[in-house]
Amino acid sequence: MTNIYPSPHPLVAHKLSILRDVNTEPKKFRQLVRELGALLTYEATTDLQMSPIDVQTPMGTAKCHELAMKIGLIPILRAGLGLVEGVWELIPTAEVWHIGLYRDEKTLQPVEYYNKLPVEPTVSVCLVLDPMLATGGSAVATVDILKRWGVKRIKFVGLIGAPEGIKALQIAHPDVDIHLAAVDDHLNEKGYIVPGLGDAGDRQFGTA
Ligand code: URA
Repeated sequence: MTNIYPSPHPLVAHKLSILRDVNTEPKKFRQLVRELGALLTYEATTDLQMSPIDVQTPMGTAKCHELAMKIGLIPILRAGLGLVEGVWELIPTAEVWHIGLYRDEKTLQPVEYYNKLPVEPTVSVCLVLDPMLATGGSAVATVDILKRWGVKRIKFVGLIGAPEGIKALQIAHPDVDIHLAAVDDHLNEKGYIVPGLGDAGDRQFGTA
């Protein structure tokens, strides 16, 4: 079964409290999403493979390590975009690939409208980024696409998860680790996480 990792870090809890506040303005909201993206990625990447390298210091040769795997960031449009910058500050060599999905109003299934992935995979680890793991539909569909592309190691990094979305991702993709700042109570009838933080896209982009 999927490993779910709600962050135990006090800085994450503190920043998430400000993020949730209905009075937090878009500028501050974007800054917090960026910072939380970096903190959660720090936790999500503790098991990345390393290769040894020798580094010349002013005093001699140090036995060091560098990342051995190419990393891809896959923000789920549009709210996932705000998480990219924070992750990129930690992993500047990461490739960012965009996949666009919308929900068909009749079938309620995610439909792909943008996907420019090359034929062969260019990365070996992917971080799927979305602040809200609500129904899990977009996350499951995105992981489906990445697996078809040939990526073997995929992790989900988000801010708040609903039990419904976590369960959907766990059932569809039990090998995908889920890193979150918090797990909330439930989804309401409109698909919003309660208590959540509202619409993460609207709050970042000032479109509420
Ligand atoms: N997407 C959001 O932005 N907020 C939610 O609560 C659920 C999905």
